[in-house]
Amino acid sequence: MANDNRSIAVFDSGIGGLTVVRELMHRLPNEDIVYFGDTARVPYGIKSSETVTRFARETCEFLLQFDPKIIVVACNTASAAALPTLKETLPVPSIGVVEPGAREAILRARGGTIAVIATEATINSDAYRRAMRRFDEGARVIQKPCPLFVPIAEEGRASGDAITMAVARDYLEPLVRLDPNVLVMGCTHYPLLREAIAQVVGDGVALIDSGEQTARAVIADLTERSALNNAETAGRLTCYVSDNPQRFRELGQRFLNKTIVDVTWISPEQFYSVGHVKTA
Ligand code: DGL
Repeated sequence: MANDNRSIAVFDSGIGGLTVVRELMHRLPNEDIVYFGDTARVPYGIKSSETVTRFARETCEFLLQFDPKIIVVACNTASAAALPTLKETLPVPSIGVVEPGAREAILRARGGTIAVIATEATINSDAYRRAMRRFDEGARVIQKPCPLFVPIAEEGRASGDAITMAVARDYLEPLVRLDPNVLVMGCTHYPLLREAIAQVVGDGVALIDSGEQTARAVIADLTERSALNNAETAGRLTCYVSDNPQRFRELGQRFLNKTIVDVTWISPEQFYSVGHVKTA
């Protein structure tokens, strides 16, 4: 069986992409993962598409030095803004979180209405609706930005917390009145609030975690290219951040569901000095 022991590179605007890493580690325990969290420039969700695309390209330049076999854009906002550009310019395959989430939503909705919640930038890009219409051109999609969910998730406010529930009701009750049967959690942070979201939308609405679907898509891609790592030893997670490794380590544990050992701060000089510009 073919074996490819190069690492899987994953990036996000900060800690949120660790929810995607969690799914990858769970499903592919032997793979080495290199993660970059752009904690100096987070949040991406309120920035323009041009700026987010530039950040994503710079991060890919940084990650290419590790010779990854795939780059996973584990940030909905960056996937929505930059994935087409990255696919055109990167010398390695890349995968984002929007398309896998959209595909699963179409499958589960069976013609019903699909609700998408995400950051302002992701909703404004219309990337989820466009992806869904590629799978089903008649797809009925309603969308709503839920920006307060990001700081609420980072503060560790669980379901049942009064503020979390009040915000969840305020955002989601108007969506529920439009009678969706599927809701896509189109932001890395939202799976942490899954219970609160489920409580407000009720049992009749299937929740889609784009990160989970992305992990499945990565497995499918690596399998198809015979690029899985067949090592018998556990893979290693190496994290790099552009600011505050201590905060990343502390908050990240909640997103990853594991202790994070290996986190290195990358200075702007190091970040920009990778030197070999491999993208077109
Ligand atoms: N990671 C971002 C996303 O999934 C959320 C945080 C941010 O706004 O940067 O869209």
